[in-house]
Amino acid sequence: MDKLLESLHPLERKVLPVLAKTTNFEEIKKETGMQDVEVVRALQWLQNKEILELKTDAKEYVLLDENGVKYSEDGLPERRFLQAIKKKSLKIGEIGDRAGLEKEEVQISLGTLKGKAAITLDKGEVKITEQGLKSLDKKSLEEKFLQKTFPIPEDELLDEERFAFDSLKKRKKIIRVDLIETKEITLTKKGEKIANTKISDKYEEKVTTQMLKSGTWEGKKFRRYDVSVKVPKIQGARPHPLNLVIEKMRQIWIEMGFEEIKGPWVESAFWCMDSMWIPQDHPAREMQDTFYLPYKGTLPAVSKKVAAVHENGGDTGSKGYGYKWNPEVAKQLLLRTHTTATTYRWFGEGKVKIPGKYFAVGRIFRNETLDATHLPEFHQIEGFVIDDGLTLRDLMGYIKEFYNKMGIYKIKFKPVYNPYTEPSMEAMGWNEELGRWVELINSGIFRPESLAPYGIDKPVIAWGLGVERLAMMLHKQDNIRNILGPNCDIDWLKSYKVPKKW
Ligand code: PHE
Repeated sequence: MDKLLESLHPLERKVLPVLAKTTNFEEIKKETGMQDVEVVRALQWLQNKEILELKTDAKEYVLLDENGVKYSEDGLPERRFLQAIKKKSLKIGEIGDRAGLEKEEVQISLGTLKGKAAITLDKGEVKITEQGLKSLDKKSLEEKFLQKTFPIPEDELLDEERFAFDSLKKRKKIIRVDLIETKEITLTKKGEKIANTKISDKYEEKVTTQMLKSGTWEGKKFRRYDVSVKVPKIQGARPHPLNLVIEKMRQIWIEMGFEEIKGPWVESAFWCMDSMWIPQDHPAREMQDTFYLPYKGTLPAVSKKVAAVHENGGDTGSKGYGYKWNPEVAKQLLLRTHTTATTYRWFGEGKVKIPGKYFAVGRIFRNETLDATHLPEFHQIEGFVIDDGLTLRDLMGYIKEFYNKMGIYKIKFKPVYNPYTEPSMEAMGWNEELGRWVELINSGIFRPESLAPYGIDKPVIAWGLGVERLAMMLHKQDNIRNILGPNCDIDWLKSYKVPKKW
């Protein structure tokens, strides 16, 4: 107990004795003369010391609105209306001036008073009735209500008050209901005892080196700092785990001398497929796999050369696919299915320097059924290097280097097929958690047929990988929906650890 008392902050010491008298937040503020934030802080610290429990709640409160403030001082318009005709009946047009009311207020009063049989209306002449005269001697429920102290918790209205509330609520800007935060303070057993204890103010507040060395200052003890006290966790902002992985990858490619390129999500089938020699009857082009948009785009001049390679190989020495290339199929707009669309745009728009190293990160879309490892939209990282004499060895080297930098060391390669690369290979990585090899990246050397239209005759090694799958592996998650989308577990987002070795 003594230790606890010695460790109290000056703000806590100010609040504590007041708590013996009241636990009403507003009253505590008044009694201590402290500011809102100071009281809140003191209360939170006292809560950490288990002296009290602090609950914040939000409740509906009835408040006076603009007209309500006016009427609570000047009286309701209907009373002023009646007063104006008390001695002598008046024309409707005269009442506003006499009673000091706006036109609208006259109208409303007229309605209310007629309803209460307090006036009669005859050829534009308004006359007070017996009933009206009587009502002037007595405050109406509405008037009584306006005299109360606001704000009033809405759920604490008495029946009579509820009647007045309902009738005033219908009228313009008299009362309004607002959600107001309330603080409920309950002293614990320990708190009750302490609040009633006389707390000595013999502790020095400013700690100096000398005091720390001697433990005293001119005979006074200084305030004890209880570092064991439990404090609330504060959650700061942090990157989303997926963005963390994307940023790490970006950083690695940049470190390795790559330049970032970007392309649009909405692409033409031309840039997404035709430009890289994907045949027009390739299964990946079907609606089951690709999201098509009901619009068509335009074709670049280079599409003529592309058409020729598709049809007969152009001047590449290849025989091509031997079909009639259809420009309408290529004009079709779609959501890009891979970032390779961006690579070929760069080729087609003549933006690639030779030798050069480029990468792209971006969202891609595939018509997949959602499950633990598939999403219809996700991210890809794409990369390519263009230079004389590049071989499969270089490709394997870049891929290994990249994964090593990501903290993945056990890698193996296997041959695969892509229409636009030859040879093509996939890299697999050992997933410790799953205890098996998982696909990491698709890659290859771009075929001459896919490069010829752009006048590129140097080797280009290239790759593309799904970011979410890799993020799952690095963050040890077994469901892709926890990496991207609305199902991410908020507690995990707050607590996830940055992968080791970064
Ligand atoms: N576009 C391929 C995919 O989406 C990846 C890739 C890029 C393969 C470049 C080879 C070369 O899987």
